[in-house]
Order: sequence, then structure tokens, then C-alpha cells
Amino acid sequence: MKKRLLSGIQPSGTIHIGNYFGAIKQFVDLQEKYDSYVFIADLHALTTVQNKKILSQNILNIAMDYIACGLDPEKVCLFKQSDLTEVAEVAWYFNCITTMPFLERATAYKDANQKAKEINVGLFDYPLLMAADILVQDADIVPVGQDQKQHIEYARDTAQKFNNIFGETFKMPEALIMKEVAIVPGLDGRKMSKSYGNTIPLFGTDEEIKKAVMSVVTDSKTPDEPKDPDTCNIFLIHKLFLSDSEVKNLREKYENGGLGYKALKDMLYEDIIKYISPMRTKRQEFENNKEKVLKILEDGALKAKANIKDKIKLIRSNIGLDLK
Ligand code: TRP
Repeated sequence: MKKRLLSGIQPSGTIHIGNYFGAIKQFVDLQEKYDSYVFIADLHALTTVQNKKILSQNILNIAMDYIACGLDPEKVCLFKQSDLTEVAEVAWYFNCITTMPFLERATAYKDANQKAKEINVGLFDYPLLMAADILVQDADIVPVGQDQKQHIEYARDTAQKFNNIFGETFKMPEALIMKEVAIVPGLDGRKMSKSYGNTIPLFGTDEEIKKAVMSVVTDSKTPDEPKDPDTCNIFLIHKLFLSDSEVKNLREKYENGGLGYKALKDMLYEDIIKYISPMRTKRQEFENNKEKVLKILEDGALKAKANIKDKIKLIRSNIGLDLK
């Protein structure tokens, strides 16, 4: 029997090539090995996105993005967190057995608290909603980025606490920390990140991608001069899109000199478009057929809901809410 994998993705606007090579691709690579459940964490997004149009569009977009990037609804149960209202119910049970100081120790909370004057209760409670996501599904493996590691520890601690108080109910999940295969440099050489505004959008138009590529920061070497590929942002981005032998070829082109940064950027642009072209086509298909995306999410929700039915019964019964 395959182990069960579960992970949530935040629907947070447009994705960029840093998201793709840093996380999404690894995610897609894991889908065969496990009994996989992936959901769109829309209830978590609500802690920050509070605009009907933006939230609903972001949810739909992230679903299309992931499917276009290779997440296969035949292999993965893809659903919307908010379709499983039981998760919010279980988060409440967790609220009642968790102390404030315990949640105050969360780094995500501390960071948010430092930045904003007043944070909402949802943000404070974020780890317990996430614990509920994970624990109701009996997940064995939870692949997340390093920044989410502490949240998995919260889920484990919460499972243990609940089991101690109400009897054996939850299984212990394990985190699978997805190492960034590559720190994808942004246009300015810092890590590619939305907060730095230095991204290349994965599903941008040709013009948007071209504009981003042309603004990659370089030094001022002339076309004739040899260039050091390992310190050139254009090369560091370019190599993500190439096979080993193509990388070797390109490296020589930099080292031999004779090509200017404009030409090297043009080559990068061409290769990005070539690489994303099949993903774009797939995404376009879904954009033109929204019903298809909604059906995938609906089917996913049905399966995920069926999956937790017995667990929810057990939880209610162990707490003392079931009088039969
Ligand atoms: N907090 C996660 C993130 O921002 C998203 C998430 C919500 C999640 N619930 C989850 C991830 C449960 C794994 C398991 O990336």
C-alpha cells in the first residue's frame, strides 16, 4: 500500500519560474510514489486576501497552474480546502485544547506580528487549521518548504495532545522538507521572489516574459569579452531550462566571448518560451473550459470528504459529542 501524501498550496496570485523550479516541479515528481492529496488552502488565504473577486480568481488560477505544470488529477486528489467544512470544525476542537503561549511561539506569527500593528485571529490560529488539514486525512507524509517545518511540528504536537486527552485518534504525520533544488536568482540576482518584484512570470504573455528577461541585471562587458557564466544572472536562470549537455554548450559560449548580453538574453527568452509552450497550451485548454476545472475540484472534494468520514465520527465520539 502506498503511503498517503497531503499538502496544501496557497492561492497567492501569479506564479513565477522561481516557484516552478523551487517547488512545483518537485511536487509533481512526487505524485506517482504516494497516494496523493493536494488541496488549495483557500481558508488559509482568507487570513490575508479579503476581496471576493481576487480570492476566487486566485483559487481558480492556482488550480489551472498546477494542472498545467503537470499535477495529474488522475493521480492526485485535488480539492479546495473550503469544501471540507469539517476541517474548520476540527480546528475548533484543537483551539480548545491549545494554549495561547504555545501558538505565540510560532515564528510565522512572530514575524507577522512584528510587521503589522494588529493581526487577525485567523493568522494566529493558522497552525491549528493546518494541523486539522493534515490530521483528518491520516496523512503520512507532508511535503512542504523549509518555512513550513514548524507548522508540521505543531500538527504533531497537537495530535499527541489530542490523543492524550481523548484517546488514540490521530496518526503522526512526517514532514518531507523539499529542498530548493536551485535557488532561482531573480532579475537583480537576489533570490527570485514576489516580494522583491524581480520575477519572471511562468504563465506571462510573450511580451511580459520578454520584458522581464531583457531587464536581467548584468555587468558591462562588451560582446567580445569572455564572460563568467557562474556569476551571470542570465546564465544562472538559463541553465534551469536546459539539459546537462545544453548547459555545457552554453557555458562555452559565455567563456569564449563573442556574444553580447543582448544576444544571450534573446537565447534565454527563446528557451523559456520553448520550455513552457506545452504547459501554456494545457493551461489555455482549462482557461477556455472553466467547467472542467470546477469538475476536477468537485470530484476531488467528494473523494477527500469520503476519506475523512470515519475519522470525523471517531473524533466527535472520542470528545463526547456523539450520544449514541
Ligand atoms: N501553510 C502552507 C503554505 O503556506 C499551506 C498549507 C495549508 C499546507 N495547510 C497545509 C501545507 C497542510 C501542507 C499541509 O505553504
